[in-house]
Amino acid sequence: MSLVRNSNVAVIGGGISGLSFVYFLSKLRPDLNFTIFERSSRFGGYINTELHNFNGEKIKLEKGPRTLRGASDGTTIMIDTLIKMGHKDVINVIPSNSIANKKYLLSPENELIQVPNSLPSTYNFLRSSLGKGLLPGFLTEIFKPQKLNKKDESVESFLTRRFGKSLPNNIMSAVFNGIYAADISKLSAKTTLKSMYESELQHGSIVKSMLLKSLKFQNKNDDSKKIEISNVLKDYETAFPNSNYKISDLKSLLTKFPMIVLSKGLETFPSLIKENLSKNSKIKFIHNDPIISLTKNQNKLITLTTSSGHSTEFHHVRSTVNASTFAEFLQNGKLMTTGKEDSPTALIAQELKFINIFLVNLYINSNVLKNHGFGYLIPKSNKNNERVLGVIFDSDIEKSSSKLFTEDTFKALTSTNETSEKPKFPEIEPHYDSESQYTKLTIMMGGHYWTNHKIPSRETSIRAAKDALENQLGLDFTKLSQDTDFYIDSLLIPNCLPQFHTGYDELKFKFLESVKNEFGERLSIGGMSFGDGAGVPDCVQNAMKSALKLSK
Ligand SMILES: Cc1cc2nc3c(=O)[nH]c(=O)nc-3n(C[C@H](O)[C@H](O)[C@H](O)COP(=O)(O)OP(=O)(O)OC[C@H]3O[C@@H](n4cnc5c(N)ncnc54)[C@H](O)[C@@H]3O)c2cc1C
Ligand SMILES: *[C@@H]1O[C@H](CO)[C@@H](O)[C@H](O)[C@H]1NC(C)=O
Ligand SMILES: *[C@@H]1O[C@H](CO)[C@@H](O)[C@H](O)[C@H]1NC(C)=O
Ligand SMILES: *[C@@H]1O[C@H](CO)[C@@H](O)[C@H](O)[C@H]1NC(C)=O
Repeated sequence: MSLVRNSNVAVIGGGISGLSFVYFLSKLRPDLNFTIFERSSRFGGYINTELHNFNGEKIKLEKGPRTLRGASDGTTIMIDTLIKMGHKDVINVIPSNSIANKKYLLSPENELIQVPNSLPSTYNFLRSSLGKGLLPGFLTEIFKPQKLNKKDESVESFLTRRFGKSLPNNIMSAVFNGIYAADISKLSAKTTLKSMYESELQHGSIVKSMLLKSLKFQNKNDDSKKIEISNVLKDYETAFPNSNYKISDLKSLLTKFPMIVLSKGLETFPSLIKENLSKNSKIKFIHNDPIISLTKNQNKLITLTTSSGHSTEFHHVRSTVNASTFAEFLQNGKLMTTGKEDSPTALIAQELKFINIFLVNLYINSNVLKNHGFGYLIPKSNKNNERVLGVIFDSDIEKSSSKLFTEDTFKALTSTNETSEKPKFPEIEPHYDSESQYTKLTIMMGGHYWTNHKIPSRETSIRAAKDALENQLGLDFTKLSQDTDFYIDSLLIPNCLPQFHTGYDELKFKFLESVKNEFGERLSIGGMSFGDGAGVPDCVQNAMKSALKLSK
């Protein structure tokens, strides 16, 4: 057992990584004592749903993440957790044939072009200026020479080598603006396009490997109709068994939906977990008192010191803060014990780069959108003077979302708990609330576009956001008056997203090895910087995996 009975565990950071780690580990090991340290006055970290007043109305604004995309293992674990805590009613979904599942890319001429999801939309896309060169690129990929070394390369270089310039310039640069706010000429192909990258190494061609996979799938189709789940979900199910349904059935239900949201905003998730943990007297919450240093003691325990000067010893420490804050803890710790800042682990951690996001929330009390959908992203081929990464149509998402669990759906989920049959889920029909008259948009700006520039002032950025909406969506702000017709709120989120640049996998390995050498099993790392990825489900999955490992 890596943690002796009644050990004291500290968690640094009260965001979703810290809270979910404590949730999982405390259920597996009720004997442990936990202290969660949070620097600010609120828990939830970047997940931040706010209610604002506009003309006597309360409007809900997401100041950080808002949607869970696709039925990843992490999302499945989150949804299962909500059900177990007794809150399945807050889960909303967007069916794949919903209006809100239409995604757009901005052409060089500032037109919204729908991302193909059907034959007609594929035809339209290929005919648009964004589609130029795409088809020849795909048709010739199989004949391109195979890469001979295993060295990492940028997403742009990888895609250009295999498919030509069109795919990275017109599509993938936009996609990665949406996920990491990152520059594809720096982003690691090995980390962020893992399966494509490995396909080339294995089969010499990505298209060939896709064809091989689909052949294999067709042959297998008859004998195994069961949905296969990953080892992560298998381990999860063993550790957190469910009395009335199988996790594979929940996963196959969720697979039908490209997007999941929570009815009162994403912050519901950390809030409900926090509420659940607060009932447990072995879990202590400390807020408004940041950790400033971390040191290893003679007796192998770890001492944490807060800015108010409190020092406490722990058997295990889980850090969920970003790499550069973590590096500061180590350097301050060394300074206190040796008088010098020299921590090799800190130096490695500091190699990870971050970008700033400027987020503009706009609420208009009328319907102004001509194209409906999830929103749009802007590829490299657009001049993009305003440096916008993308725009999310929050109102369309809200107007199209339906409750996941009606009585029938839940009944179907729990109906096959002992048989090998697949449950038959009732269809959730797409719907759109066309009665409500409002438009809610989020404009995401900055990211890698600001890397070599000074951060513009708030006024400049808001002006740029409005210009972008006028040029790209045809909005006319001269016809709208602030405070009666629209409401605008903005937030600069400094250094928030880690950039998984070429060589990231090696950097992560080097970092985790260094932590292990210096601290052994006494310290573990979660969060976005060196975890399983940058999304909320990645953070939750990472927390679950670590909790499981430590609980044994
Ligand atoms: C603008 C934006 C949009 C995003 N959109 C999405 C999305 O749509 N979907 C999605 O899945 N993901 C999205 N993400 C990513 C998502 O926000 C993260 O995956 C997730 O919130 C990370 O949670 P965390 O707990 O690891 O880190 P954090 O939320 O950063 O939590 C860390 C906590 O540690 C605290 N802390 C820091 N320093 C100290 C200290 N010295 N002592 C004590 N506590 C400290 C912080 O105050 C914070 O509360 C988005 C991120 C951003 C920035
Ligand atoms: C906390 O969550 C568990 C499920 O993991 C649930 O059984 C329990 O009732 C919840 N406790 C409270 C106080 O909400
Ligand atoms: C399966 O579901 C039934 C009815 O809900 C329940 O009585 C039974 O205990 C469940 N089986 C298992 C293995 O939990
Ligand atoms: C890391 O987290 C701290 C505290 O939340 C924040 O101030 C800082 O901007 C973040 N990013 C970096 C790279 O330090």
